[in-house]
Amino acid sequence: MHTPDCPRELPGAPGDYFATVIDSVGDGVIVVGTDGRITLYNPAAEEITGFSRRQALGTTFEKLFSVETPLLEMVAKTIRTGITISDHENVVVRSTGKISPVAVTCYPLILPNGENIGAILTLKDITYIRELEAAVRQADRLSTLGTLAAGLAHEVKNPLGGIKGAAQLLERELPDNSDMREYTSVMIRETERIDRIIRELLDLASPRGLKLSPVNLHRVLGDILLLQQQAVGPRDITFTKQFDPSIPDIMADEEMVTRLLLNLIRNAIDAMGESGRLTVVSRVLSDYRMTQNERNSRMVAIEISDDGPGIPAGDLENIWTPFFSTKSSGTGLGLTICHKIVAEHRGMIKVESDQGHGTKFTVLLPLVQ
Ligand SMILES: Nc1ncnc2c1ncn2[C@@H]1O[C@H](COP(=O)(O)OP(=O)(O)OP(=O)(O)O)[C@@H](O)[C@H]1O
Ligand SMILES: [Mg+2]
Repeated sequence: MHTPDCPRELPGAPGDYFATVIDSVGDGVIVVGTDGRITLYNPAAEEITGFSRRQALGTTFEKLFSVETPLLEMVAKTIRTGITISDHENVVVRSTGKISPVAVTCYPLILPNGENIGAILTLKDITYIRELEAAVRQADRLSTLGTLAAGLAHEVKNPLGGIKGAAQLLERELPDNSDMREYTSVMIRETERIDRIIRELLDLASPRGLKLSPVNLHRVLGDILLLQQQAVGPRDITFTKQFDPSIPDIMADEEMVTRLLLNLIRNAIDAMGESGRLTVVSRVLSDYRMTQNERNSRMVAIEISDDGPGIPAGDLENIWTPFFSTKSSGTGLGLTICHKIVAEHRGMIKVESDQGHGTKFTVLLPLVQ
């Protein structure tokens, strides 16, 4: 084989030179012989896969990557056919258990005489690219205002904790009958209020992702209504449930769906004052199409209606905007959060309001994600 001149500054034999070159490549490089054994494994490959060179060399590729079926198929195909295959959607499971997305290309290793003696895999860790893509999608969703507010919220969080702690210490120092206690309790209550707003804002801005599991909507609604019935106390508010018993569990994030329904039910109760009727209806819409993305999945509809004063026509378009509230103690984030939760579940939310006659919020959620 023709050996190129080695640069003078690199000591040792040509083999060392090539090894140094391969070891210096930032992408993972793995060479597999036709017998399936690994013959080369560079440090970047160690870093990406979590397997050390010592573990890898001499072992069969199939044994080391037993669960990464797409990788096994690529190597087998390249060795069999001598063609180059790329796959940018693969996932390599590190031996540490962490899953990192990698872009993989598998080249045939061919001698000058045309003999195919194995495959060369290059692996590029694209975790960072995936994170960037997710961040871009997230930034798209959030308005500039929301992002700024979240940044500000983060900055305010720590000093706020300090103020609350100091107010609590101050309160402890005061005698039980001191007039000053009124001031400290205002300080503590208001810092708690800011803290709640900040937590909601940060929540709104954080890319949490859905934790999907089968959710029994009727149980969730039943639990919320039970608790809210106790919370309304002496107010004369009637709760009516009309549930379609044929609704199966839906695939959703239970914590988020609970928050969504709780926010809507609380708003309805807030709107009704001293007396009223809250009605919760559930239905399956069997042939409902999500026309905007051409999905054709079955949807569940949940309607939450109240017979309160309704929402003035001029306010209807503002209710989803962060901080829009007509309540003295409202944050105005409730419906913004509801909107985000529904969008993340690929659902829909709409409102119909008849001033003087009440309001109906309808949430559509797909049965499966
Ligand atoms: N069922 C309803 N009937 C009448 N008005 C409503 C109803 N639901 C929402 N609204 C109006 O929409 C506004 C925004 O609601 P949203 O839930 O976002 O904030 P909030 O309830 O004021 O505050 P928070 O939810 O943070 O306590 C409310 O202040 C109210 O004016
Ligand atoms: Mg609300």
